[in-house]
Amino acid sequence: MLTLKDFQLGQKLTLLLSAVFLGGILATAIVLSQLLNFNAQAELTNKALMLMETMNSVRDYTSTQVNPELKERLAKEFLPESVPAYSAREVFEAFRKSPTYNDFFYKEAALNPTNVARDKADAFETKLIEGFRQKSSKASEVSGFRSSSTGNLFYIARPITIQKASCLECHSTPDKAPASMIKLYGPNHGFGWQLNETIGAQVISVPAAKVLNTARRSLLVLLGIFTVAFALATFLVNLWLKRYVVRPINRMALTAEAVSMGDTAAEFVSNSNDEVGKLTEAFNRLRLSLQMAMQRLEKHRRGGGNTSPSQ
Ligand code: HEC
Repeated sequence: MLTLKDFQLGQKLTLLLSAVFLGGILATAIVLSQLLNFNAQAELTNKALMLMETMNSVRDYTSTQVNPELKERLAKEFLPESVPAYSAREVFEAFRKSPTYNDFFYKEAALNPTNVARDKADAFETKLIEGFRQKSSKASEVSGFRSSSTGNLFYIARPITIQKASCLECHSTPDKAPASMIKLYGPNHGFGWQLNETIGAQVISVPAAKVLNTARRSLLVLLGIFTVAFALATFLVNLWLKRYVVRPINRMALTAEAVSMGDTAAEFVSNSNDEVGKLTEAFNRLRLSLQMAMQRLEKHRRGGGNTSPSQ
């Protein structure tokens, strides 16, 4: 069986670097994916909050400038343009026409909505609104993932609280509301709201895949850069090792072999002053010592021949 002992220096180093790389990339991937996910969510949340502020400004504009102008005509015919919720939705639909935002959804979910078909809070939104309605709740927004009939969504929600008395002209009791509105929406829904009551939630959602894809794309790019940098580092380290360690050592091994076969003139050559260079010098001294010892021995042997018993 092949053990670590049988590996060459370069292979051992590559093995070590690969282990470091694998551990490193695994840890990086885990931490980075969390971080990037978080980042993608934060970015979307910021966008959504900005949008909500815009929608609220549209609502404001409608109730302070459009609604008063249309009030007289409202008695005879219903004009959706006078309704803040209507203008907010229309503006959002126009906004959604841009390709960047066409998968954004906007909903003014209410527990007791005027437009039941569109604005009735589903089970999930009801829980959100109940949370906002709790006295202790100071939450100005919540965000997270939810499942829906159209797949997983990332949502950002803010409470809708009745802050203007003008809202109650249409949302307090049916007899106060314009008759034309009752004709269209009926007297049973969207009434009984109180000042300062949280009656619903403004919810913006996007497909969860949008968040995850953004994060995944950034992750792949970063891991790609990481891998290329590692491959380059391993390649350069191996090149360096071969040039400054492996080759000089191989050369030394060959010379040592020649010396051991009796060629004491074979010289260890080195062109560096590092540890390998020092080793080369040490070998050269060893070779010289050996050479001298051999010469002395030879002389001694010859001398011994002179004093042989034949003389
Ligand atoms: C002129 C009457 C009128 C006024 C004033 C009015 N609303 Fe409404 N509101 C409506 C009608 C009608 C709808 C349903 C619109 C639709 O079909 O989407 C509605 C819808 C809403 C909705 C969406 C949920 C639902 O009930 O369908 C919210 C939230 C809402 N209004 C809040 C307010 C607030 C807050 C104000 C005050 C700033 C206000 N409204 C002022 C008539 C009015």
